[in-house]
Amino acid sequence: MNKLIFALLLLSLSACKKEAPQANNKLMIPPLIDSRTVDGSIRLTLQNGQHEFFAGVKSHTKGFNGDYLGPTIRLYNKDSTRIQFTNRIGEATTVHGHGLHVEGRVDGGPQNKILPNEIWDIILPIDQEASTNWYHPHLMGKTAEHVHAGLAGLYLVEDDNSMQLPLPKQYGVDDIPLIVQDRDFVEGEMVDYSATENELMDGKRGKTLVINGTVNPYIEVPKGWLRLRLLNGSNARFYEFYLKNEQAFYKIATEGGFLEKPVAITKLTMAPGERNEIMINLSDGVTRELMAILPPADNEGVTVFSKKERILEIRVDPTATAPGSLPTSLNTIRRLKKEDVDVVRTFTLEMEMDEGADVMCGTDRNNMFCINGKPMNRKRIDEKVNIGATELWRITGDMMEHPFHMHGTSFLILSQNGNPPLPEDQGWKDVVIVDGGWTEVIMQFNYEATEEFPYMYHCHILEHEDAGMMGQFTVE
Ligand code: C2O
Ligand code: CU
Ligand code: CU
Repeated sequence: MNKLIFALLLLSLSACKKEAPQANNKLMIPPLIDSRTVDGSIRLTLQNGQHEFFAGVKSHTKGFNGDYLGPTIRLYNKDSTRIQFTNRIGEATTVHGHGLHVEGRVDGGPQNKILPNEIWDIILPIDQEASTNWYHPHLMGKTAEHVHAGLAGLYLVEDDNSMQLPLPKQYGVDDIPLIVQDRDFVEGEMVDYSATENELMDGKRGKTLVINGTVNPYIEVPKGWLRLRLLNGSNARFYEFYLKNEQAFYKIATEGGFLEKPVAITKLTMAPGERNEIMINLSDGVTRELMAILPPADNEGVTVFSKKERILEIRVDPTATAPGSLPTSLNTIRRLKKEDVDVVRTFTLEMEMDEGADVMCGTDRNNMFCINGKPMNRKRIDEKVNIGATELWRITGDMMEHPFHMHGTSFLILSQNGNPPLPEDQGWKDVVIVDGGWTEVIMQFNYEATEEFPYMYHCHILEHEDAGMMGQFTVE
């Protein structure tokens, strides 16, 4: 079909598309476990379950202490928290603390295997600033499938600063976690994980959005300031969040902590693995719709034809008022400087190439992708970092945008394609979107990761990670 006619057809189709119907499912809020009110250890059981995404239809899922996803665990800086993970899913897995600054032996990477019916009993000495982190499986070749089934949950770290700031902090009331995922359904039943060769390339994307395990959700909140803690917990999909009517909202935190001050924005792009906290002013009591543009997998970016979906309908209860507010100052960030860099490392994320290309990763599904010419190999340590050193990592990737993540620390972005980061990206992070240009990040590694339990760096498109776009490093 002629491109112009096709475009006109699409335009007219979207013009006659009706307003989205009212959201009809109450947003599920994962139960909260506060580490300070638990006597002894926190117990999390990985289990098989049956979750109703659509009323009356059960899907086969997995969860922690439940059918799908897991409780939100509140941790405190300078506390040590003991957690016991019991594996009842009938196969081996691991539980990684994504964003936690902890040693390799309790990091939950591919080496921290929990066999069926085994208990992984760990103590997490929390030593980092307030931030929204998460836990999910990380077994080599199985991460995508296990996360897709529902194994994921949040770790909220609090510190003196976060407890003193006047921000909304009533969990589930005016401080709301939003785990954004995408799944496919047939007659209401979630389709089990599988990935075709194309889905390995683009990453597995579902057609239906699922927020905290809820399809088409709404929430009712008090008037005043609303704080949303967003996690892109999807295997591969990127989102461009915005409020319908393009109203401004404020970004207050990146993965590793608060920004120095709130930054007013109208759209927020998030890649898999990223977390951001935003604040929305609901003092007028008017219903809002949190929306997202779903960019295509290829590098062509967002167009007028990109799909738009509602993430959450936010209804306001006019009889209740939330006490939280938006402070003008949030944090002090100690900026590491380029002059203080001890080591520079370079990482190139590569997709399988046609024969004759300069890079060939591997030949089968387990090693289709690579970093610096090599697919992930558990027996190989790729980088050795000196504990306490200041490092600058330069990262680039081919074919599409890749969310690069590393374990054991948070970093600051120094530059992307030669430009300094936007104000809203100038906080501590542990996932950064890289494309064909160069992205530079700076950080220090202060915790030990031995050859037995090394840290990982990888693409957070889980299909890419599982198929080899990952490497291992020690910190000693
Ligand atoms: Cu969220 Cu190495 O992973
Ligand atoms: Cu991680
Ligand atoms: Cu990737």
